[in-house]
Amino acid sequence: MKGKTVPFSIVSVEGLQIFDSRDTPSVMCKMSLSDGGCAWFKVPSGASTGEKEALELRDGDPKRYRGKGVLKAVENISKEINSAVKGLEINGVTQEEFDKILIKLDGTPNKSRLGANAILAVSGAFARAKARAEGVGLWKHFAESNARMPVRQFNILNAGKHADTGFEVQETMVIPFGAESFSEAMEMGTSVWHSLKSVLKKQGKPTGRGDEGGFVNPFGTIDETAKAVLEAISKCGYSPETDVALAFDGAFSEIYGKDLKDETADADDETYHFGGRRATAEDIVAFWEEKIELYPIISIEDGIGEKDTDGWRLLTKRLGSKVQLVVDDYICTNPAIIRQAIKEGLGNSNLIKLNQIGTVTETLEAMKLTVDSGRTNVLSHRSGETEDDFIGHFAMHERISQIKSGSSGSDRMAKYNALLMIEQDLGPKAVYPGLNAFPTQVKEHWKQRQ
Ligand code: PGA
Ligand code: ZN
Repeated sequence: MKGKTVPFSIVSVEGLQIFDSRDTPSVMCKMSLSDGGCAWFKVPSGASTGEKEALELRDGDPKRYRGKGVLKAVENISKEINSAVKGLEINGVTQEEFDKILIKLDGTPNKSRLGANAILAVSGAFARAKARAEGVGLWKHFAESNARMPVRQFNILNAGKHADTGFEVQETMVIPFGAESFSEAMEMGTSVWHSLKSVLKKQGKPTGRGDEGGFVNPFGTIDETAKAVLEAISKCGYSPETDVALAFDGAFSEIYGKDLKDETADADDETYHFGGRRATAEDIVAFWEEKIELYPIISIEDGIGEKDTDGWRLLTKRLGSKVQLVVDDYICTNPAIIRQAIKEGLGNSNLIKLNQIGTVTETLEAMKLTVDSGRTNVLSHRSGETEDDFIGHFAMHERISQIKSGSSGSDRMAKYNALLMIEQDLGPKAVYPGLNAFPTQVKEHWKQRQ
C-alpha cells in the first residue's frame, strides 16, 4: 500500500448527464467520500466503434438528443449501483473486487443492462478514490515506480467518420519518436500542426478542424495527404527518419462491405469500398505495402476491417516486421478476444480504450495479455471526448507504450497537459522511450533504415 492509508468509505455515487466534445450527452459519476471529498469520472464516446464493444446505454427517445440521451445510465448509477457500493471501505476493497461487484450486478456479457458507460464512470471514479486513499496523485496510483513516459501519437488530419469529406483513411498522425522528452515531443507535434496549417493555407485549402482536433483532411488520396504532412515536417527542420514519422488509422471496418456513410454492412459483401471502387483484402494489403515503401510510416492502425480475419493475417504476414500494426476494432479492449487475436497472430500492437470494455480491471487485464505476448499497448481517447484527464494519468502505467489523444482543443490537450505535469514531477527520472516504445522488430527495422 502506497502513501498514507486513511480509513474512509463511499458515502454515495451519483450519475449526471454531461456533454462531450460533439455536443452529445455523456455520463459522469460523482463518488462522495466520507472525508468530505469526492472522486469522479467522465465517460467519452466513439463514432467508428467496434462491433464487440461493451454496450453504451442510450435512452433511444428520438424526441430528446436524437435518441442519444443517457438518463437511464445516469439513473442506474444513482439507484442500483449506489445501493450496491455505498458504505464500502475504500481501503478494504481492491479495484478488481470493486469492479467484480459492478460486473456481477449488471449480469450480462456486454454490460447491456446497466450500460458500460454507467459502469465505467463508477469504476474510474473508484480508481480516483483509491489514489486519494493512498495519498498519491492518480498517475502514481497506476505508475508504481515507473517513470517511462508514453510516446505521443498526434492525429493532425481528420477524415472518415470524424469529418464529412468522404476520404476513407480516418486518421493521419505524426509520431515524434525522436524527442528526448515528452515536452519535446509536444513541441515537435504542435510545431508540425502549425506548419501543416501554413502548408494548407498556401495551397488554398480550408483549415477547419475535425472531431479530434486535426484539420479536416482536404485531400482525396493518401499520397497528397502524406506529401503535405512531410512538407510540414521538413519546414520545421525535422526529419521523418529520425524525429517525426507518419502513422495512419485506416478505421477500415467502416468500409468493409459498405460505404463510409452506411451504418450497416451487407453480410455477403467481402470487399472494401475504397477510392470509388471495390477492393479485396489482397488489394488493401498491396495498397499499404506500396505506401510504406513510398513514405516513412511507422504505425498503421486498423489497416484492415474487424470482420476480415484472413485480411488481418495477410496484412500481418506482409507488413508485421516493418510497421507497428495496431489492432483496434477487432479486439475492442476485450481480454477474451485479445487472447484469440494473439493466438492467431493478428497485428503486433493493441489499442486500449477503457470504454470499449467498461471497467479499469478488465482494461488492465487486456494490457497485461498484450505485453506478455510481446506486443505494445497504445492508449487512446475517443473521438467524442470530455475534459477528463484520466487517460493522461493512466498512460503512466508501465504497460502503456504510446498514447493517442488528438491534436488540439482542451478536450484533447487535457490528457497531454496532465503528462507534462507528471514529467515535471518526475524531474530527471522521467524517460521518453522513443523507438523503444515500438514492437522489437519494428524498432530494429526503423534503426536499419536510418
Ligand atoms: P472512435 O475512433 O473514437 O470514433 O471510435 C477512434 C479510433 O478509431 O481509433
Ligand atoms: Zn482506431
